[in-house]
Amino acid sequence: MSESTIDAHTTEFGYFDDQQKEYVITTPFTPTPWINYLGNDGFYGLISNTAGGYSFYQDPKFRRLTRYRYNSVPVDTSGRYFYLKCDDHIWSASGRPVQQQPEKYECRHGMGYSRFLVSHQEIDSELTCFVPLGEKAEVHRLILKNSGERHRKISLFSYIEWCLWNAEDDGSNFQRNLSTGEVEVEDGVIYHKTEFRERRNHYAFYSVNQPISGFDTDRECFLGPYRGVENPVSVEQGKATNSHAHGWSPIASHHLEVELAPGEERTLVFVLGYCEVAKENKWQSPGIINKAPAREMINRYKSQYDVQKALTALATHWDTLLGNFRLNSPDPKLNRSLNIWNQYQNMVTFNLSRSASFYESGIGRGMGFRDSNQDTIGFAHMVPEKVRERILDLSATQKSDGSAYHQYQPLTKKGNANIGGNFNDDPMWMVLSTVNYIKETGDFSILDEKVGFDGDVSEEPNHFEHLRRAFEHVVNNLGPHGLPLIGRADWNDCLNLNCFSEDPNESYQTTQRGKSDVAESLMIAGQFVLYGQDFVQLCIQLGKRDLAHNAQQQVDKMREAVLAHGWDGQWFLRAYNAKGEKIGSHENKEGKIFIESQGFCVMAGIGIKDGKARQALDSVEQRLATPHGIMLNQPAFSTYDKHLGEISSYPPGYKENAGIFCHNNPWIMVAEAMLGRGEKALEYFASISPAYLQHMQQQHKTEPYVYSQMIAGNDAATPGQAKNSWLTGTAAWCYYAATQYILGIKPDYAGLIITPSIPAHWPSFVVSRRFRKAHYCIEVNNPYGLGAGKVQLEIDGKAVAGNLIDYAQFSGEHHITATIVQS
Ligand code: BGC
Ligand code: NOJ
Repeated sequence: MSESTIDAHTTEFGYFDDQQKEYVITTPFTPTPWINYLGNDGFYGLISNTAGGYSFYQDPKFRRLTRYRYNSVPVDTSGRYFYLKCDDHIWSASGRPVQQQPEKYECRHGMGYSRFLVSHQEIDSELTCFVPLGEKAEVHRLILKNSGERHRKISLFSYIEWCLWNAEDDGSNFQRNLSTGEVEVEDGVIYHKTEFRERRNHYAFYSVNQPISGFDTDRECFLGPYRGVENPVSVEQGKATNSHAHGWSPIASHHLEVELAPGEERTLVFVLGYCEVAKENKWQSPGIINKAPAREMINRYKSQYDVQKALTALATHWDTLLGNFRLNSPDPKLNRSLNIWNQYQNMVTFNLSRSASFYESGIGRGMGFRDSNQDTIGFAHMVPEKVRERILDLSATQKSDGSAYHQYQPLTKKGNANIGGNFNDDPMWMVLSTVNYIKETGDFSILDEKVGFDGDVSEEPNHFEHLRRAFEHVVNNLGPHGLPLIGRADWNDCLNLNCFSEDPNESYQTTQRGKSDVAESLMIAGQFVLYGQDFVQLCIQLGKRDLAHNAQQQVDKMREAVLAHGWDGQWFLRAYNAKGEKIGSHENKEGKIFIESQGFCVMAGIGIKDGKARQALDSVEQRLATPHGIMLNQPAFSTYDKHLGEISSYPPGYKENAGIFCHNNPWIMVAEAMLGRGEKALEYFASISPAYLQHMQQQHKTEPYVYSQMIAGNDAATPGQAKNSWLTGTAAWCYYAATQYILGIKPDYAGLIITPSIPAHWPSFVVSRRFRKAHYCIEVNNPYGLGAGKVQLEIDGKAVAGNLIDYAQFSGEHHITATIVQS
């Protein structure tokens, strides 16, 4: 189906090009900078639709390569920029920062690359930025073409600004930093070597594969005093100053004179690279850095053919990754979401957790324990080896009592104590990630891996023991009603029931005043029943019968506690506060109902038999659902209440205070699908999923191809307006909800279980899915308009009993037909 058929309306700022797996942006002036991510193996770049953004190696705080100014005015004014000057015209190859607009502009964000197509004054440029697979570098390929009939002389200037490595220090410690900057220039390559003279064994460089006519490495010389990146003086004068930075603000800018005959085209290759050298090999000669690794890297992209090869390899890589799952359903927007952008976003969130985006500054947060565990559920089918490694890294930051550091730094892989701990939902997420990984891959060996607690290698139990302690942590931390203690907070970081903060200078996330042995969480209770059952199943798989038996008793006890103390009459309570009072009850004036406990208790199967689950979901629909998604709570908190904490600090309708906090919406989708209400589940999916929101780009504001963390709720002044795009658990969860619960293709230990819960009017859908050694083409038919029910399976034309495709029996390609019949 063509794009125009899917989106029957014109869009103001951009549209999908599914054929190319690209999002095409048609103006530099999008409501917010619309960004993409480059790289997926250590070297990363954030790149906006005008090439703004920054690059880093592994850790956006400790290894920041280029500088970015958050909070800048105008927004998004640092990046990799190319200035073109021809006759008296000056413009940018990416639409900004030069204010003069090119006659034609287009940005195409694709899978791991961004391309900018600009035409001005009969000169066409095509700038493609990407990180080649496995490379510690960003390549910027610039193709210039003279589309006119005159001979043209173009003055071209590249520009990036170096960050002095530690991004936090770089933005604050000016008394030191304005003196430390150092560069070298050799053969047209600009090397950034700040702090190399002391403890750093790494440097960065920016190269171009053709002779230069000049360069600049000192920012003020290039820009000119009191000028900005929108009108550098060197560009205006058509001449670089060959400046050498000594401290102040080092940059890298090449100046090239490009002459083009009519119709002639020239390709230039710029490489922004990062090199590590062995300590004993740091210097080539006194004071001169060892450039051998840089030269090697530059050589790999010497010609345009090398670059084309790397680009093709990247495209093939993505075709393969996305080829593991492919949907063809009657809903083209669902196909588009799941086949391309949702999976792509899953990869990005997996890689970066919540560390670096245009909303996360890259210095505040490392890899979140709960976030990263949840992110794996959208990624295990793509690169399972990486998921395995990630789970073990997370496991290594767990403490011996089963609790976890809330975050760790990717560079050191050590838990970050400054962020705080005691978020009591943290531990059980590792059961989810591990079980999901094993079901996808069959790799039980992950459980035998030796992993120390909190980096301690003296005692090295196996990963399974870490899961057992996670489970025990909940059991050992129960409150007065036998429900889990909330600790500092549960999944909702802002429900701070033990914080009582009246001091604006303290953090809600680390402050704790109340005794922590009273406030209890119904969200963790549901989570414990859900993943506790998974733990029991895992024990059974491993033949650990006693452990399974005991764990089952704990799970059963928790289920009882929820039914006895967690039901409010029409929905599940949210919590008990530090005084033992109810939160999320009809008795409360505000915050009567919360989404999290409805999602988790129903997903855990609590109340399915006696109708409570259905009632809870109906209450969600009546009280929380809006056309823009499901709000977190209602009514919003109108005033600050120190007994509730940060949740009541937000203006009503935003963030955790009655915003549509998208991450938890898929919990309700899963729950609805479990009850056989696939239509409702898909309706919720559509309300927050970007593919369905193309008609409201201006209102939505953030990138219309990825999920945002939050969409403003009904109480807000700006309902439907999104914030915090890209790094959100919404991506993995929406993918998981749609594929495993709505489409109902669910990996299990023994095989693939087929349990669709689709809209009754869908006649059928087809999923092509690679699992372990086999490739299945699964055709689900709904001839009786039921949407959900029992499934009759045929594998390669032969009827089989039950709804399981037994992994053990299949390799190679297989055709499955599943027919939904009355149960
Ligand atoms: C935000 C939460 C976030 C927390 C983490 C709060 O300000 O509202 O969404 O998880 O900060 O630090
Ligand atoms: C964002 C955080 O990354 C996540 O861990 C948390 O669960 C949500 N905010 C809700 O507070």
